[in-house]
Amino acid sequence: MTRLVDMEQRGEDSLIEGSLRPQNFQEYIGQGKVKEQLKIFIEAAKLRDESLDHTLLFGPPGLGKTTMAFVIANELGVNLKQTSGPVIEKAGDLVALLNDLEPGDVLFIDEIHRMPMAVEEILYSAMEDFYVDIMIGSGETSRSVHLQLPPFTLIGATTRAGMLSNPLRARFGINAHMEYYELNDLTEIVERTAAIFETEILPEAAIELARRSRGTPRIANRLLKRVRDFAQIKGEGIINREMTHQALTMLDVDQEGLDYVDQKILRTMIELYNGGPVGLSTIAINIAEERETVEDMYEPYLIQQGFIIRTRSGRQATAKAYEHLGYPLPGTN
Ligand SMILES: Nc1ncnc2c1ncn2[C@@H]1O[C@H](COP(=O)(O)OP(=O)(O)OP(=O)(O)O)[C@@H](O)[C@H]1O
Ligand SMILES: [Mg+2]
Repeated sequence: MTRLVDMEQRGEDSLIEGSLRPQNFQEYIGQGKVKEQLKIFIEAAKLRDESLDHTLLFGPPGLGKTTMAFVIANELGVNLKQTSGPVIEKAGDLVALLNDLEPGDVLFIDEIHRMPMAVEEILYSAMEDFYVDIMIGSGETSRSVHLQLPPFTLIGATTRAGMLSNPLRARFGINAHMEYYELNDLTEIVERTAAIFETEILPEAAIELARRSRGTPRIANRLLKRVRDFAQIKGEGIINREMTHQALTMLDVDQEGLDYVDQKILRTMIELYNGGPVGLSTIAINIAEERETVEDMYEPYLIQQGFIIRTRSGRQATAKAYEHLGYPLPGTN
């Protein structure tokens, strides 16, 4: 049951994501540092008529890693073949993909930290010297075949750089760390999306929405859709600040942009563990989420915003967390 709902939601989301996806650097808002670097490396590769160095994009979900991979391929003027770590089950699957590339093409592997080891090992020689050695046949008749590949660019995306093995990580010439978006960039993204939706949004409403979107374009776009529905039914269709506030409150997105799960994490830490330190797995069990989900999706933003700090013995809620959720600071009563 839940599955079905999930899938439907994903269908709707991927439809919007497709139409909203920036195609080139000029349309890609924010991530200035990453863009500046990549522009130079892409120009240089084009001047030398070489393939771009292998590039690792890492950062929390929804910040535009997939989008950036497509932008890079567009700017290089090459094809992009897309796959993801968990989908490539056997070494042969990867070899088939590699064999299909034309010189200079981009192979984009999403969730690259989730590749099986046997597949990952194939990548080492492919990335370093553009060849693979594969075993054909079995038993007595098996033999190794050397397959030369065209020069290509591997773009890997991961939410956790720490999960990559050292040999794999070392083979990426370019490391791009995607950051949460700054308010003005996210506001611009909200305004761009509203224009694509042909929805009118007042500037202060766009700022409010951006402020409460956890620095994340995917969340901003998703919330904008919901606020647009709200404005259509409860107002005259133009999105103003009050309407944005009402819609977000209804969606359990608070003044700081924390959602229901964020709040639950903080409340658990404060109410059950005295603010911590408490281990991440313990928190995850208490709120019935996967540890990975908490680590990838929730914790980074809570840390970035100063609600949680990491200590040697676990995670600790800060004074800001107590204040924000209306708890008295420990030791003050
Ligand atoms: N810089 C940007 N400007 C405008 N829209 C953006 C930008 N970055 C991302 N988006 C939009 O945000 C959504 C999410 O982006 P994307 O799918 O690229 O994120 P991701 O980092 O690959 O996420 P995940 O880790 O979940 O795979 C897309 O709809 C995309 O169009
Ligand atoms: Mg992606």
